Amino acid sequence: MDFLSEIVIPPNETHLQVLRFVLFISLALFFPYMGATIGATMFSVYFNRKGRNSRGSIYYRFACDIMDKLIFSKGVGLGLGVVPVLSATFVYMQFMYETKSAVVGMMITASLLYYLGITLIYKYKANFDIEEVVDTLKAVINEDKEKKQIPEEIEEYEAGLKASKTTFGGWGLVCLMVASLFFVGGTSLITNPGEWAHASPLIYMFSVPVLINYCFFICAGLAFTGIAILFYFFGWNGGIKNRSDNYKIYVKRFAGSLAFYSIIILPVLFLSSFLTYHSHAFSASLFVIGALALIIILLTANFLYALIRNSEIKYSGAMFYLMIVSFSLISLKDVSAINAALKEQFEKVHLLAEEYQKKHNKIEVKDTGISGEDIFNAKCSACHKFDTKLVGPAYKDVLPKYNDNVKKLAAFVYNPVKVNPDFPPMPNQGLKPKEAEAVAQYILTKVKDYAK
Ligand code: HEC
Repeated sequence: MDFLSEIVIPPNETHLQVLRFVLFISLALFFPYMGATIGATMFSVYFNRKGRNSRGSIYYRFACDIMDKLIFSKGVGLGLGVVPVLSATFVYMQFMYETKSAVVGMMITASLLYYLGITLIYKYKANFDIEEVVDTLKAVINEDKEKKQIPEEIEEYEAGLKASKTTFGGWGLVCLMVASLFFVGGTSLITNPGEWAHASPLIYMFSVPVLINYCFFICAGLAFTGIAILFYFFGWNGGIKNRSDNYKIYVKRFAGSLAFYSIIILPVLFLSSFLTYHSHAFSASLFVIGALALIIILLTANFLYALIRNSEIKYSGAMFYLMIVSFSLISLKDVSAINAALKEQFEKVHLLAEEYQKKHNKIEVKDTGISGEDIFNAKCSACHKFDTKLVGPAYKDVLPKYNDNVKKLAAFVYNPVKVNPDFPPMPNQGLKPKEAEAVAQYILTKVKDYAK
């Protein structure tokens, strides 16, 4: 990954601040989106299997509706699923400037797998639509009294469709699950600087801290999926239409228990994930943010309980937004942990940033040819000396009145005006502003050697 260190420059403090913010936004978008995508695909694939033999069954309808309601367009999928992981990767790259570790490699692997997974899942979703078209076609043929017989090609096509759909859905899900393991692994590893030098990605990914964080990620995703199903099927825009009561009762019960059981395990996993942090990662803000996140999770659980007991679906919107807030707090907690864990690393990066800045400035002066001394020798020495007058006055007589004000002197050199009636006017030397400044700086410094 050496080429990566070429495109990354050591960030300074303002730059780091921006990077922390970018990381927060990326994680806050990514967590709820990916959680719901994994959950939705998991249950759609499951119910699709369960209902595969009867297209009219509740299960098949549910599998189809989940994809329809919870998985938005492919653009949204890439925008909220892949772009945030890529920008988090970029931020980690800057944070870890000039240190060797597996973090960036793990994050890039995660991005590629997410891309593949999302592509497959959109193929899976598209197959539902095609199946619907085939169904309509079959219905039309069935109505035709003379033909009654469904042509063989259609039956074959349908069988192929079914098989490829299962493949797309299954493999898409596997890609997203494995990608998440890489993602969680990379994000855990970055908070653990002691491991950077020798952690091998495959072994580290199956260590206890990563597995706990992974379970937390999946469990939060499942809770959010349940709540999102309740919200999009029953709360949003008056809820789903043209479905039997049986179907609605089934979905409500399924999504309610899914959300409820996931959300009561969530606090346990959340607290365990705190214990997995390396001592460097702890800070006061980590506890405050963590406590807030926990309170919101418990509050959501409370709403869910009311919903299940009294089937009060009107809370689904509140729960949906509460979950989004808790995902934001969880992201903030992660950024805060990374920040505390990287304190030493940031100090190192600071020094590098300063050095880089110095080196860069020097190169700039040389490259554009703005050296005060060279300009003096080429453009001024014909008329000026420091200690005696030539065509123009001696610098030691005229410069003291500038009082070391480089800008003021540069303004004169850039555009000379008439000053002393004993001298002819000084011709404009046609310098660029930067050059005027450089030569002004040079003569102001140099004239001190001639001070009386
Ligand atoms: C062709 C001759 C000539 C060249 C070349 C020339 N100067 Fe001068 N310079 C003069 C003369 C003549 C004056 C006096 C003008 C006046 O008092 O009005 C002067 C005055 C000055 C003053 C005094 C201004 C003041 O406030 O009293 C400074 C400073 C100065 N020159 C800097 C420069 C620098 C820097 C360069 C090179 C980029 C330069 N000059 C090139 C002829 C020249």
